[in-house]
Amino acid sequence: MIFWGIYMKKAIVINNLWSKYDENWVLKNIYLKIYRGESVGLVGPTGSGKTTLAKHILGLLKPIKGRVIVDGIDVSKTSASKMARIVGYLFQNPSHQIFSETVYDEIAFGLKNFGIKNIDERVRSMAETMGLIDKLEESPFNLSIGERERVAIASILVLDPKILILDEPTIGQDYKNYILLKFLLNRLRERGKTIILISHDMELILEHCDRIIALKNGEKLYDGDIKIFFNNAFLLKNLNLDLPPLLKFSKKYGLNKFVRNIDELIKVLKNEARPIC
Ligand SMILES: Nc1ncnc2c1ncn2[C@@H]1O[C@H](COP(=O)(O)OP(=O)(O)O)[C@@H](O)[C@H]1O
Ligand SMILES: [Mg+2]
Repeated sequence: MIFWGIYMKKAIVINNLWSKYDENWVLKNIYLKIYRGESVGLVGPTGSGKTTLAKHILGLLKPIKGRVIVDGIDVSKTSASKMARIVGYLFQNPSHQIFSETVYDEIAFGLKNFGIKNIDERVRSMAETMGLIDKLEESPFNLSIGERERVAIASILVLDPKILILDEPTIGQDYKNYILLKFLLNRLRERGKTIILISHDMELILEHCDRIIALKNGEKLYDGDIKIFFNNAFLLKNLNLDLPPLLKFSKKYGLNKFVRNIDELIKVLKNEARPIC
């Protein structure tokens, strides 16, 4: 019990994780700790191992070597269905995770599986938040791609998991869904959820993450503060990542403050503006 106590404030602890699908190592010697309530951006080139790392946290893959502890539980000794109650995972292509005949059944699926009470109330309230209340009796496959993706997000959030992994959530999204996603991320952070945001969208990462973990060729290249990350031009180049437009702008105009979103930028501009004499 004392051993598990060490992990209690940490949502995720990974020690010496090694993973491969066939011959080649896809994750090498990964050590990391993510604390409860942290919002972490997981970045890196395509094929660097981000989705594989997510699958280890979910218990969908078992380590060849090393340990993955999530919410105090050793993932390799726990069923994937038990892990799904703790970690919500929004797939890279969310339409692929829809199976039910109606939107209602899709959102209710996990609740029924886990024997959770107040199913009807929870489904309707989540559908309301996601703008799907008029679609509950429809087949998800008759909806637009944007609506279908909202169904996939609703079916995860309705389970109220402690940890959320969003794997490239903005790819192929329309503007309405993008704004909704940002709103949801803010709400989830306010509610103290632990979030891992996997994305190439540096604007989204800048606005919603405090810390960055960067992978390249299965190795951890960076793990730390977001401001230091975006100040390291060499590292960004090595990861083939670009500065978000907001930081390009503030750099170009020599602003002294690190800004995370448009509101912060406007504040800084107002403060730094000098009257022309
Ligand atoms: N199911 C699989 N079978 C074999 N190789 C895989 C499989 N999934 C991913 N890979 C390989 O593992 C490496 C890491 O993939 P992945 O974790 O999906 O990277 P990322 O999410 O960063 O793009 C890539 O070289 C990829 O081709
Ligand atoms: Mg991926």
